Amino acid sequence: MSPQIIKLFALLLLSHLLTISHVAASEKPLSNERKAQLNHIVKQDCGSCHGMTLKGGLGPALLTENLKGKTVAFLQHTILYGRAGTAMPPWKSLLTEQEALWISQQLKAGTVVDH
Ligand code: HEC
Repeated sequence: MSPQIIKLFALLLLSHLLTISHVAASEKPLSNERKAQLNHIVKQDCGSCHGMTLKGGLGPALLTENLKGKTVAFLQHTILYGRAGTAMPPWKSLLTEQEALWISQQLKAGTVVDH
């Protein structure tokens, strides 16, 4: 084998390994610690507009019954990108897609605020 070919194989192997570790990292489940932080963010930061108990304020209520007709993907998108022309800000610089998805699932399930 020529040295060029060997170099090419080495590069391919390297990029393959990088891809695998990247995928593995993004698929890692959220730690309980991060989930607790996210719950805190939802109550404090989101709560400043949506109400500490998410019953609404400047922003609409985010309780299970309010989100019935809305999909998790729709809520996730709203959280990441905000809503243009409204007070709802984008959170993509603070939350990953996975975290916004998790929050949306918790909101739909009504498990963010302990009653
Ligand atoms: C500065 C105020 C403000 C903050 C902070 C805020 N929101 Fe909002 N949010 C709004 C407003 C206002 C709307 C309604 C937008 C509209 O009129 O469509 C909204 C809409 C939403 C919706 C869509 C609800 C629906 O019924 O379609 C979701 C989900 C949501 N916010 C989640 C969050 C989460 C999660 C956070 C924290 C990470 C957050 N918001 C922080 C003001 C805020």
